[in-house]
Formats: sequence, C-alpha cells, structure tokens
Amino acid sequence: SKLSVIIPAAGSGERMGSDIPKPFIKVGDKTILEHTISRFLEVPDVAQIIIATSKSYIPTIKSMFEQLSTDIQLDVVEGGAERQFSIYNALKLVSAECELVAVHDAVRPFVRKQLIEECCEVASNIGGAVLGVPAKDTIKKVDADKVIESTPDRSVLWQAQTPQVFQKELLVKAYESALGENFIGTDDASLVERIGGAIQMVEGDRENLKITYPVDLKVAELILGVGK
Ligand code: C5P
Repeated sequence: SKLSVIIPAAGSGERMGSDIPKPFIKVGDKTILEHTISRFLEVPDVAQIIIATSKSYIPTIKSMFEQLSTDIQLDVVEGGAERQFSIYNALKLVSAECELVAVHDAVRPFVRKQLIEECCEVASNIGGAVLGVPAKDTIKKVDADKVIESTPDRSVLWQAQTPQVFQKELLVKAYESALGENFIGTDDASLVERIGGAIQMVEGDRENLKITYPVDLKVAELILGVGK
C-alpha cells in the first residue's frame, strides 16, 4: 500500500545550543533534513512526503523541493508549538491514496530503507509499527528531587525511534482523541496506545540516531565521513 511520510522539522534546536534549527544544520554537503528525505526517496511505496516546519523556513523547504527530481508528491505545512501539533497539521494534508502514514523525525538521517519497509509491512498487518532498539542503559524512575523510586526491569524496555508507521484511520483517530483530551505524548505510538491500537516494535539499529545534542552531530559527521 501507498505510504505518506510526515517529517516534523519545526523544533527550535534548544538542546543543540545552535541558532539554526537542527534539521537545517549542514552535515557534509547537505542539511540533516535533506539526508533524511533522501532515505525515503529510495522507498518505492512512498507516494507523498509532508514536511512540517516553522513559518520562516517554509520558503527554504519550497526551494529544496525544487532541487529534487521525483514523482513523489511533496508538501510543506506550518508546524505547531509541540511536535504533536506539527504532526496534526500535516495529517490534514495526507493524500487520499495513502493507506499508511509514517512519522519520522527530521533529525534521524540514518534510517535504513529495509527497516522502513519492514515497519510498513507490520503496520499493514496489525495496525502500527515502531522502530526501536532494546534499552542499553538501566533506566531509573525518579521523583521531583531526583530521588530514585524504582528500577524497571530492563529486559522489557525498548527505546522507541522513528519511523512509526500506522494505518491512516488509526493514526487520525488517535490524534483526534488526544487533542480532545489535551493529552500530549512524546511520540506517536503513545497516542495510538491510548485508544487501544495494536502496535509492534520492529528491531532496528543504533545507527538510526536522533541528532539532539552536540555530540550527536559529531557522531553523524563520523558516520558520513566528514568529521572535522
Ligand atoms: O524536540 P524533539 O527532539 O522531540 O523533536 C523531534 C522532531 O520533532 C524534530 O525533527 C523537530 O524538528 C520536530 N518538532 C516539530 N515541532 C515542534 C517540536 C519538534 O516539528 N514543535
């Protein structure tokens, strides 16, 4: 089935400590966002890519689209104050021909084609799929004073990455429900979980890093062989 890809790229880049929002930082010859988009251009089922960005970057995205030679439908939409609102705005533009929707962070440029396809297959079969890896560190639950309350069993903990792929109706329903009840989640699956949707974890790899802190940018440069 045809896939629509929503790429939220409206974050401010606070944790990076940079003036330029993370997706627009250059690594090698391209911006992080361009690296990310190029991964999805390789996937035959992709029919549409929607970028959510802040108002001031909409012209940047439009001129970037002009450089891409592809049959894929390319759209841009203004983002919101939270990642979730950015995605909700994009969801309204999903093309009618797409049965599946993938949400993928602009700042994960190393996602592999085969894993995107694996997520799509699982989502087609059961409703939703989340790419992730088993938790590497021991995770602690703490109170407001950082006093440790408990240590969840690591063997059942996974780190959720993106893409997170869902059947379109399921994702739309989850977003509308979350909006109606003022629930804000840190990923898309958490919204779908709330309405009881079935989602399976797909084991990915640790190269699919989320460029968030300055050290992540250094690792990204090493992966691309452009380290300074
Ligand atoms: O802030 P966080 O690291 O969770 O951001 C993940 C992705 O969501 C980034 O690609 C960022 O640009 C995007 N985002 C967004 N709208 C926001 C906040 C974050 O599109 N309001």
